[in-house]
Amino acid sequence: MSISLTGKSFLTLKDFSKEEIQYLLDLALELKRKKKSKVKGDLLEGKNIALIFEKPSTRTRCAFTVASVDEGAHPEYLGVQDIQLGNKESIEDTARVLGRMFDGILFRGFSQETVEKLAKYSKVPVWNGLTDEYHPTQVLADFLTVMEHKGRLSHCKWVYVGDGRNNMARSLMIGCAKMGLDFVIVAPKELWPLQEWIKECQDDLEGKKHSIFVTDQIQEGILGADIIYTDVWCSMGEESKANERIKLLQPYQVNQKMIQATNNSNLLFMHCLPAVKGNEVTEDVFEGKYSVVFDQAENRMHTIKSVLVATLANK
Ligand code: CP
Ligand code: NVA
Repeated sequence: MSISLTGKSFLTLKDFSKEEIQYLLDLALELKRKKKSKVKGDLLEGKNIALIFEKPSTRTRCAFTVASVDEGAHPEYLGVQDIQLGNKESIEDTARVLGRMFDGILFRGFSQETVEKLAKYSKVPVWNGLTDEYHPTQVLADFLTVMEHKGRLSHCKWVYVGDGRNNMARSLMIGCAKMGLDFVIVAPKELWPLQEWIKECQDDLEGKKHSIFVTDQIQEGILGADIIYTDVWCSMGEESKANERIKLLQPYQVNQKMIQATNNSNLLFMHCLPAVKGNEVTEDVFEGKYSVVFDQAENRMHTIKSVLVATLANK
């Protein structure tokens, strides 16, 4: 089956099939090899790419910038303080203006509705670099990292520990459902994902009812994990919830005791970063032998490049 994603936006993994996700991962591996062998790319020659940021970013901003330049495109950073976006000008109008000048638009910000409006009105590919609801490009980097470390993506038990309602938990759940992977969320009941989010993954579960499992029982959830994944306890924009979250999530900290309790000496510890060490993960686990967090960070660039090339390249 031949796959073409030309002209398609990347707003959530829900819009992509298993085969399309695998295609993006394979292309990322190919582009990574190309970069490592110092071959200069021209797949995005002549393309102009707008990078809109409402929230701060290290990895996503740098990954989009380097990926663009590596393949000959011009990236233009547009902070929300610099442009009129839903402020003095509607999102629809900004989108139509940017669509006349740019070949593609990256958006990082609060509302999923904004990134969807940008895609609808700009008529060029729009990529979601994190909203309150989803962080789909991160999941591609995480999948690539597991493929490299385990030699496969299949037959891995993913366990996400922490805030089970945030953009990472939800995006990993969608990604794992798409790829047919067992996914467990270990979180206090107050932070369980909404039932409707689990339901929206059902179509991809191919009748495997138990492949998404949510529990507040740590030992039950983590036993036999191949991957322990965590994220910050307060996502960007939720800073006022810090005290409440610390109280709820302290027992769910990823520490040596939790790592030992997985009973898997081939475990991977993953985190999308940035991390608050001492909260969701202890320093020793973060720096320890199971941690692949900086491979994930590097793979943001290779996978984002793959998304850019797949949706925008001339050839
Ligand atoms: N993981 C991630 O999205 O990092 P940044 O917030 O630094 O972009
Ligand atoms: N859940 C985090 C992810 C950061 C990459 C946030 O939204 O802040």
